[in-house]
Amino acid sequence: METIISPSILSADFANLERDIRRVTDAGAKWVHVDVMDGHFVPNITIGAPVVKSLRKITNAMLDVHLMISEPQKYVKDFVAAGSDIITFHLEAQKDLILDIIKEIKSADIMAGLSIKPKTPVDEIKEFIPYLDLVLIMTVEPGFGGQRFMHDCVQKIADIKEYARILKKENLYIQVDGGINDKTANICKSLGANSLVAGSYVFGSSDIASALKSLL
Ligand code: DX5
Ligand code: ZN
Repeated sequence: METIISPSILSADFANLERDIRRVTDAGAKWVHVDVMDGHFVPNITIGAPVVKSLRKITNAMLDVHLMISEPQKYVKDFVAAGSDIITFHLEAQKDLILDIIKEIKSADIMAGLSIKPKTPVDEIKEFIPYLDLVLIMTVEPGFGGQRFMHDCVQKIADIKEYARILKKENLYIQVDGGINDKTANICKSLGANSLVAGSYVFGSSDIASALKSLL
């Protein structure tokens, strides 16, 4: 499976989102990662479904929406209606309703993703993998861009890859988010990641096309 880069607009200029999204899609990005934070599940507030709805009008890229919010079930409908192509929520956010939320996302005919924070053991996510399109391994504490990659999380990538192999889910997206640059991207890919989120590395570069290429 080819590696999919999902540039995170958290590091874009929020006053120029259309311009910045065009920059990455013109440079070849097929996915755009949208970090939704509520100031409760994580200590930062970003954007919500109305912004996704506006972005839907200006791009055909896959809108890869990463919900870092408490009670994601309350908001899935809004993010589906806004035009998300992938909705990823956090296992830690609403533990008793995980399968219900996955089913709700899938019933909208879009991709469902589940994410774990650095301190959450990989075993906790395994039982949900049969129902998922994407597993997101966080390699920073969610909340902010520009943090340092946590190397002690990388074994989780290999574990998920192995579990997907056992389940014969070759199409599972194994995504990594946090501290991705050309060096950490290689580590993640060698362990089985096939989707990389990158914010500051891509948008902080003066040559976005080369930055994207260096992650492939
Ligand atoms: C962090 C977000 C990330 C963030 C990554 O909580 O989920 O998507 O944008 O930023 P970098 O690539 O700068 O670590
Ligand atoms: Zn993210």
